[in-house]
Amino acid sequence: MSNKEYKRVTTHTLLEMKQSGDKISMLTCYDYSMAKIIDYSGIDIILVGDSASNVMAGHETTLPITLDQMIYHASSVVRGVKRALVVVDLPFGSYQSDPNEALRSAIRIMKESGAHAVKMEGGSEIKDSIIKILNAGIPVMGHLGLTPQSIYKFGTYTVRAKENEEAKRLIEDAKLLDNLGCFGIVLEKIPAAVSKKVTNAISSPVIGIGAGSNVDGQVLVTHDLVGLSTEFNPRFLRRYVDLNDIMSKAIKSYIKDVKSLNFPNKKEQY
Ligand code: KIV
Repeated sequence: MSNKEYKRVTTHTLLEMKQSGDKISMLTCYDYSMAKIIDYSGIDIILVGDSASNVMAGHETTLPITLDQMIYHASSVVRGVKRALVVVDLPFGSYQSDPNEALRSAIRIMKESGAHAVKMEGGSEIKDSIIKILNAGIPVMGHLGLTPQSIYKFGTYTVRAKENEEAKRLIEDAKLLDNLGCFGIVLEKIPAAVSKKVTNAISSPVIGIGAGSNVDGQVLVTHDLVGLSTEFNPRFLRRYVDLNDIMSKAIKSYIKDVKSLNFPNKKEQY
């Protein structure tokens, strides 16, 4: 494993990292202030995920978020980032109907937000759209396994590809995305043995979330990692800090100080 320091992260950097065995770190982000913290900390990929629909807007699923809203989040993130590769989810409804619409949506994201790549959920069924977008020079990241935009088809957020047939289809889809030229693939909530097979079978980096350790990198939703979201507790999640508790203590102290005339003090006024 090399300890090479990477400058601006590009899709080529990620390929090099896979080849040299350096693990890739990826986190979600939806705003400028958080983007500065995450980027400065040295993350490799920042994903402006459509999980903004849940985390930022309080929706139950990722389906309601619009292309305009994704562009707003993405442009805020891009302004805070100096090093990481910024990838933006194409939201539900912006690419499924036909390849021309998919390309128009991807172009809007690249042009209006300044991001570096797009991510799309699905395999062979969106092949033509992926080809169209790649042909326009836009890097595409795939997303297989539990694909939250299809939650109403699955009916549940449970582990995917547990059965042989679904696992075989997923591996075939991963090979297809790799052959088409996707620069990476996110695998969400699938057995570790299946993600290991995918990682060994394809040349592009595999980033897992709930997909075990035999992959090229890991991604989490930042709000889950720092304890800002409290209701979501899947087995794969590790909380590194309880910001919910820290923030609510600080806010309670502020309220107490306001009520007791302890804030502002003499030094805090003009
Ligand atoms: O939208 C998102 O946050 C994602 C990650 C869970 C990979 O797609």
